Amino acid sequence: MCGIFGYIGEERPLQLWLDGLSRLEYRGYDSCGVATIKNDFIFIKKQQGKILDLRTNLKNLSLEKFNIGIAHTRWATHGKPNNLNAHPHIDCGKKIAIVHNGIIENYLLLKEMLLAERHKFLSQTDTEVITHLIEKFYQGNLLGAILKCVKELKGSFAIAIISTYQPKQLIGIRKGSPLILGLTDKGQFLASDIPAILPLTKKVVYLEDEQIAILEKDKVNIFDFEGRPNRVNIERINIKEEQALKKGFPHFMLKEIFEQPEVLDKTFLLYLKKEKIHFPQLNLKESFLKNLKNIFITACGTAYHAGYLGKYFLEKYCGVNVYIDVASEFRYRNFNLPNRSLLISISQSGETADTLFATRDAKSKKIKVLSICNMLGSSLAKISDNLILTPAGPEIGVASTKAYTAQILVLILFSLYLAKIKNIISEKFYQDAIVELKAIPNLIREILGQSKKIKSIADKFSKFGCFLFLGRGINYPSALEGALKLKEISYIPAEGYPAGEMKHGPIALIDEYRAVVCIAVYDNLYEKMVSNIQEIKARNGKVLAILNYQDIQASKLSDEAIYIPRLKNQDFSPLLIAPVLQLFAYYVAKNLGKEIDQPRNLAKSVTVE
Ligand code: F6R
Repeated sequence: MCGIFGYIGEERPLQLWLDGLSRLEYRGYDSCGVATIKNDFIFIKKQQGKILDLRTNLKNLSLEKFNIGIAHTRWATHGKPNNLNAHPHIDCGKKIAIVHNGIIENYLLLKEMLLAERHKFLSQTDTEVITHLIEKFYQGNLLGAILKCVKELKGSFAIAIISTYQPKQLIGIRKGSPLILGLTDKGQFLASDIPAILPLTKKVVYLEDEQIAILEKDKVNIFDFEGRPNRVNIERINIKEEQALKKGFPHFMLKEIFEQPEVLDKTFLLYLKKEKIHFPQLNLKESFLKNLKNIFITACGTAYHAGYLGKYFLEKYCGVNVYIDVASEFRYRNFNLPNRSLLISISQSGETADTLFATRDAKSKKIKVLSICNMLGSSLAKISDNLILTPAGPEIGVASTKAYTAQILVLILFSLYLAKIKNIISEKFYQDAIVELKAIPNLIREILGQSKKIKSIADKFSKFGCFLFLGRGINYPSALEGALKLKEISYIPAEGYPAGEMKHGPIALIDEYRAVVCIAVYDNLYEKMVSNIQEIKARNGKVLAILNYQDIQASKLSDEAIYIPRLKNQDFSPLLIAPVLQLFAYYVAKNLGKEIDQPRNLAKSVTVE
């Protein structure tokens, strides 16, 4: 939520900040702004709306060169998205400008105190207290003022600061919200996320929690919140620039849907060696895994749906008890996590506030944590004892797609790995599963080849004002995910439901105006799904069914059907169903003219509670 970008170094046109910011726009897009220093003055330009509007407004200026600046794209938490609440914010003396990602939880108390000391506030944001606090504490040393300021702040923050007091320094602060530094010989960058600096440098520093970075044209110093110097750990990122570009696709979401076969192939490259599953980074002792009885899974949104599938795999193959909850509930429940438990935390970004809190909580109770995460340098990756990386690469579309299928595959592989260690599945089952899984990327390619057909069905269904997605067993989580995809990018109310629960309420919704997406692939619950379809048709509901090619019963009942290959082990079918439902949601949203990569009110990483 919110993206921040900063640069100090050789003079560069203002365009640099706007371009950097545009690469972060997926993090928030209701307003934006930029601040720089020229002739000892802070120049600020803010804009309600998108970065494109800011560019238009700054047209004449965008080629003018500056050697320092900060920029921000906002996802509003405190105060409406308007010009006043857009960042950067400035102090009363107009000497200090800041941008912020996160939430200052005690800002009301701080604001009261600062108002009593006659500081003048221009916005309703929590952020503005930071500028005034630094102003209050400033006594000739900016770092000294910042050290005092951060001690007053409760909550999470990544902050970038420029000041006419020290115009040759760009300052970054991190507590709870992500901040990375990008280093070059000609200048230094800071940003909320890697895509912002990908075209500019591959030399990065992942700032740790409670660190302050002072960037100058040719050097970087890092301090902790006590002002003690810290080591600067420089890493090289192994992500190609084109991975964060649209590559000819009209939307990132579509590009990322089409990247799924490649992502799954990469996952095999990482975790299959001579047809055996291995997780080189796993620190869990075999004896611990052998005796493992309880697994807790926590995540949010799409990652939670992947986790839900994980529950099915782990219960079925490993004979363990698996409990799952969304992180925002899990962290506030009085869960008794017994010894010999494992927490699996799943997150694309590794920065989701609730998932991080839930993970930290479990760690404080001495529970071992395994994270499944797409971002190597993220907070989740750092706090976890064990990490399985999903190699999906940068996911820019706000609606998660390729990270989801990568999470599912990793969960299947981990379940098979654990089942083998526990000696629950036979060598033949294990080998057959691997052979079948390895064929899946090509089957997905085949499904993606049906995108024209899926589009034409989506065009027809986009007139419906309400959707139900039904599945049973292993494909109940697929139904949840299908509904989430549709509602988040098309804004059509959609609910995912276990089909067996229809009679206990939702069937009351069914009439000729309701569209029902039924996942009815051949598995042990196929016949029951067919009965559910009958019940919907008897009440005039419109059925779009996801079926296997060889289907003979459900296809006759459904208004439309999309066919996918039948697997020997249908437990893996969610990997084939996901791209179908993603494409369906994509084309419905496209038909309705929605902003697919940046749906209203959403942001890519939810770094606040
Ligand atoms: C939905 C979506 C969100 C995320 C959720 C968790 O398409 O993208 O529901 O899945 O916010 O985000 P991560 O995985 O980054 O923790």
